[in-house]
Amino acid sequence: MSDADLGQALPLPTPSAELQARLAVRRSAPAQSLVAPGPSPAEVARILELGARTPDHGKLFPWRFVVMGPQSRAALAEALLPHAARQPDPAKARKVLSKLTAPPLTILVVSTPVEGHKVPVWEQQLSAGAVCMNLEHAADALGYSASWITDWYSYDPQATEVIGVMAGEQIAGFIHIGALAEGPLERPRPDLAAKTAYQP
Ligand SMILES: Cc1cc2nc3c(=O)[nH]c(=O)nc-3n(C[C@H](O)[C@H](O)[C@H](O)COP(=O)(O)O)c2cc1C
Repeated sequence: MSDADLGQALPLPTPSAELQARLAVRRSAPAQSLVAPGPSPAEVARILELGARTPDHGKLFPWRFVVMGPQSRAALAEALLPHAARQPDPAKARKVLSKLTAPPLTILVVSTPVEGHKVPVWEQQLSAGAVCMNLEHAADALGYSASWITDWYSYDPQATEVIGVMAGEQIAGFIHIGALAEGPLERPRPDLAAKTAYQP
């Protein structure tokens, strides 16, 4: 889709057994288990294009992406080491840095809400979360597994400065993408009857 397509009627949805079957078994990957091959540059562009087709109130697009290859993440993990030492459990903080370095490709999603806009910041942040989920779906559609990770360095102010997060921004997630040697195990799912109210 391009600006030339603006105002063009899009196709109406039709039932897709294939899409339902994929959604019914969708699962995140353990980040440390993600291995090569990761998506090619053309596939990354497609994942971003599909992932960015996400609802956002006011068309503010209140998020930005940083596509991180292995070199930048290795350097980042190294730069985060002294900050891991300041965490309540330094050994664990160090250990989880392997989630940053193992996967072949990562898309960092940064929430960039516009303060003082009539669209509440909360809604802008929800859009950043939605874009993370949509990136996972896009990766799945291209045949890759994905993992949405935040970890301590997404919340530690000195660490986020190292990552390049600016004032007013927040990390929505590191979306790690790659291949898995084996399918992930099923995990508990919510009791929908307990979670859902039906009204006439
Ligand atoms: C906002 C957000 C942040 C997360 N951060 C972490 C994290 O830091 N470490 C972790 O092990 N899992 C984290 N997770 C959970 C993983 O993404 C987890 O694999 C996923 O929720 C499993 O569910 P699924 O298989 O239905 O996708 C996070 C999930 C969300 C939504």
